[in-house]
Amino acid sequence: MASPTATSTNLLPPTASTAIATLLARATDALVQPPSSRLLNDPIAATTLANLSLPPSEASTNPSGRTRAFNQVVLLRARHLDFWTREFLAAHPQATVLHLACGLDSRAWRVFSGGSEAADLAEGPQNMNSANTNANANATSQGREEITMQGDNLMNPPRQVHWIDIDVPSITTLRKDVLPTSPFPTTTISSSSSSPNNYTYILLPHDVTSPGWLESLPTTHPTLVIMEGLLMYLSPAEASTLVQRICSHFGDNGAGGQIICDVVGRRFLATQKSVTPIARTGAVMRFAADAAGEVERMHERLRVRDQVGMWERPGRELCDWYTRWSMWIWSWIPGVNTMGLDLRLDF
Ligand SMILES: C[S@@+](CC[C@H](N)C(=O)[O-])C[C@H]1O[C@@H](n2cnc3c(N)ncnc32)[C@H](O)[C@@H]1O
Repeated sequence: MASPTATSTNLLPPTASTAIATLLARATDALVQPPSSRLLNDPIAATTLANLSLPPSEASTNPSGRTRAFNQVVLLRARHLDFWTREFLAAHPQATVLHLACGLDSRAWRVFSGGSEAADLAEGPQNMNSANTNANANATSQGREEITMQGDNLMNPPRQVHWIDIDVPSITTLRKDVLPTSPFPTTTISSSSSSPNNYTYILLPHDVTSPGWLESLPTTHPTLVIMEGLLMYLSPAEASTLVQRICSHFGDNGAGGQIICDVVGRRFLATQKSVTPIARTGAVMRFAADAAGEVERMHERLRVRDQVGMWERPGRELCDWYTRWSMWIWSWIPGVNTMGLDLRLDF
């Protein structure tokens, strides 16, 4: 990781700069005291934000009212997709994780205990993080971060995981400056057991709507494709083509897997200008789905496993009263209750 980078959301293309809005939500949460009150507890997010050296007007970690509610909705989404990621890895000890539109998210660090603690993963499941994340970061005297995480046990610790983070080049270039290089201290971690554990991490610069990038990715192991905050920024044709390419490449030609993603509903598209943290970036949402079936129909291999409404996400009871009250009201209004969905589909 290089020294702090002076940047501004204005220097990024509009869609890319939405990654800063979600980073801000995670960084704000990471500063909440006491740690037990944090919704996600991602200490790397706070460091990443500091490394960006944004002007103070773009980096407020003291949001009010509706921005705080937006942040909490984003945090619950991340928490939910983290949980599904851990479930997939528990069920598939040999797996590839394709994290599309990773933005400035440190999901791989959250899902595995990061930094020097990653080696503990080889010893067993006890250090795997869970939905009830309890992570702490402390800057050491060398300035290196130590991350410790504790969580619920998983049935099977991962044995071979290839984690691939992908975003557009403007984001992957920035990531190299503000995030640690890898969640794993080395690409291969040998355990004392006879079969070595093997973890690899790569960061790839790709526009996921362009041809060619997907076809070179490995298909040997079950693949988890994570798309958080991506599909809505694609056109309906681009979203559908992307899902079809994923299912054909990893399903028809490979070991199959799962897509976990979120979608916004049509009502959300119509009201997107009122979502200030996103609207001020200039990004425009274009794809919407009001039910999981609309994504399932994109490819014959897809089967819906879960559809969870934006207001039903696990952990919502931990939000402050304003967000909980808003969610409760919205959950009763037809059309508004499908404004956002977390989806899990097998292929
Ligand atoms: C709202 S941010 C979400 C980032 C991250 N998943 C998170 O939750 O913090 C949207 C991300 O989608 C990425 N994105 C949008 N269109 C893309 C495309 N065609 N190819 C790759 N990434 C794209 C943007 O660069 C940005 O990082």
